[in-house]
Amino acid sequence: MKNMLKEILNESIEALNKADSLEELENLKVKVLGRKGSLTSILRGMKDLSKEERPMMGKYANEIREKIENSLAEKEKILQEKRKEFLLERERIDVTMPGKKAERGNVHPLTKTINEVKSVFIGLGYDVVDGPEVELTYYNFDALNAPKFHPSRDYQDTFYINPEIVLRTQTSPMQARTMEKNAPPLKIIAPGRVYRNDNLDATHSPLFTQMEGLAVGKGISFGDLKGTLTTFCKAIFGEEREVRFRPHNFPFTEPSAEVDISCIVCGGKGCRVCSDTGWIEILGAGMVHPNVLAMAGYDPNEVSGFAFGLEIERTCIPKYGMNAIRAFYENDNRFLEQFK
Ligand code: PHE
Repeated sequence: MKNMLKEILNESIEALNKADSLEELENLKVKVLGRKGSLTSILRGMKDLSKEERPMMGKYANEIREKIENSLAEKEKILQEKRKEFLLERERIDVTMPGKKAERGNVHPLTKTINEVKSVFIGLGYDVVDGPEVELTYYNFDALNAPKFHPSRDYQDTFYINPEIVLRTQTSPMQARTMEKNAPPLKIIAPGRVYRNDNLDATHSPLFTQMEGLAVGKGISFGDLKGTLTTFCKAIFGEEREVRFRPHNFPFTEPSAEVDISCIVCGGKGCRVCSDTGWIEILGAGMVHPNVLAMAGYDPNEVSGFAFGLEIERTCIPKYGMNAIRAFYENDNRFLEQFK
């Protein structure tokens, strides 16, 4: 029996030395010390020994057991240490490695231009107001002196939702809405989207952006309108830009004008951007029609005012030397990234 015990000890130590994983160690433990383990089954044979032999053999067996247990514990410690090192190595983070760069967005060129234009007018003392894109036909046409069968109701190719509701074709309804709610004097701008039933091509889009301006008070004249818009054009497009006013016609202004700037790309010589005219039209404007003032509850004999409508896309296009309006709406990153 003593020899058998010795053998178990030797075998165990040998297996133990070979084991190089915690799993193997656990298996060995079960194989030797477990309920059906080799040492356990030998100890069961103790009962067959003589009374004299039993205590001695018992003591010896316990020593063996202790040795095996201690060796197992020692080896377990080593293997645990090894595993920890392995895990640490695997999970190591190199803090000096360059990180992944997050893509940075930028403000859309239309928004950028709106912000620039806004800041010019805020500097001139204007308030910024906002209004609905789904608009009552009343504000889009009737309150703006466009009678029921006035050609402007279809020359703008309106999207009607029903006879009383349209997608606004211009920001001009904000003139009527603002005057209805506020007493003169007032100076406002109203940027926003407008909709017209146009096909998308280089210069047209069914959706585009305008900014309305309105100034009403005592003694406001066409000279004020010219001065304001000239100041604005030079602030946005540069001091050297020439500004010209051409007579035009809008139902809600009288007299009316369209405003051109000398082409930023060719400086007036003529190029693709200005269709060889040397000029780029960017604004419609005029003195607020007395009917519009009266409909909003103002006394046209007491106050006068001017209004203007700026097309933001047409402001961007010469500013950035672009040649197609659609680029603003396609959201192609290669285009947008240029405005970082
Ligand atoms: N609403 C006009 C347009 O869309 C522009 C305009 C605004 C003209 C204000 C005069 C005064 O063409």
